[in-house]
Amino acid sequence: MSINILAIESSCDETSASVIIDGVVKNNIIATQSIHEKYGGVVPELASRAHQQHIVPVVNEAIADANITKSDLSAIAFTQGPGLLGALLVGASFAKSMAMALGIPVIGVNHMKAHILAHFIDDPKPQFPFLCLTVSGGHTQIVRVDAPLKMEVIGATRDDAVGEAFDKCAKIMGLPYPGGPLIDRYAKDGDPHKFTFPQTDMPGLDYSFSGIKTAFLYFLRDQVKSNPAFIEEEKNHLSASIQKTLIDMLMAKLKRASRETGIQRIAIAGGVSANSGLRSRLEEMKDQFNWEVFIPAFQYCTDNAGMIAMTAHFQYLEKDFCSYYAVPKPRMQI
Ligand code: KG4
Ligand code: ZN
Repeated sequence: MSINILAIESSCDETSASVIIDGVVKNNIIATQSIHEKYGGVVPELASRAHQQHIVPVVNEAIADANITKSDLSAIAFTQGPGLLGALLVGASFAKSMAMALGIPVIGVNHMKAHILAHFIDDPKPQFPFLCLTVSGGHTQIVRVDAPLKMEVIGATRDDAVGEAFDKCAKIMGLPYPGGPLIDRYAKDGDPHKFTFPQTDMPGLDYSFSGIKTAFLYFLRDQVKSNPAFIEEEKNHLSASIQKTLIDMLMAKLKRASRETGIQRIAIAGGVSANSGLRSRLEEMKDQFNWEVFIPAFQYCTDNAGMIAMTAHFQYLEKDFCSYYAVPKPRMQI
């Protein structure tokens, strides 16, 4: 009998379903919610409603695409947290009801662990132990990973996440949400050395990204006073310079973490790992520091159910199931 798991992701603004069979991810169906663009950020109530609209077609497509039926399922997994409560509730309620009706186990998955375990979907897969820089809209962490289900946060942001810093700086430049990918795009045609911004250093392996956003805001406000067209004229250089600063900050602590732990197997995960500047900087580290580097495929960087399915498979092998009455955990920690 094969192990067939249906996984559902609904922590923020992507409704996604995936089927994994014997540890092989068969598909990764994603419905993106474009409704938030005009509001400059994710509106929680609208996200919940959109999840309700998308969840049935997305799940049906994942099951049909995997050439199985509901009765073939061994378990159903859902993102238990962290995330938006109302958004998590849609996926959790759907997964638990369906599992209960089918009489099969239900698996609650930690979204941040799943971003890291996305590295086990395709080859090359990292050996243990490795360090993972997990960078998303809500988190910035350096995680030591000793086994699929044994990981420890050794550094983290004390305030904003780096994805939030990307998005807020983009918003200050008048760009729509999510601005991270737009900064990435404009940065390609800009000079990263044209402007410099003060970097905040925190003790140990921790980060802080709230100061840089304020520095960026004040800098632009002053410039716009003397030249109202400043942002438009300098968009590419501003994007390249702020992106370089954020990447410099990320890399400084990652290098320190590698030095202190003696681990040279380095992975990145989460939405910001789609950033081309961060990806190429990490590639440079291969030769410079003799690192073995793991960069996820684009489809597994931002939120997706494929990574939830992969994590659920590891949990299934350990019989790490949850109750049919398990509640979402918006602040779930690794
Ligand atoms: O992991 P994710 O999809 O959702 C969360 O769990 O937060 O990450 C979303 C974040 C957003 O802040 C978005 O702007 C950022 O990832 N992001 C990027 C890029 N693609 C997504 N930031 C910079 N460059 C990109 N190419
Ligand atoms: Zn995420």
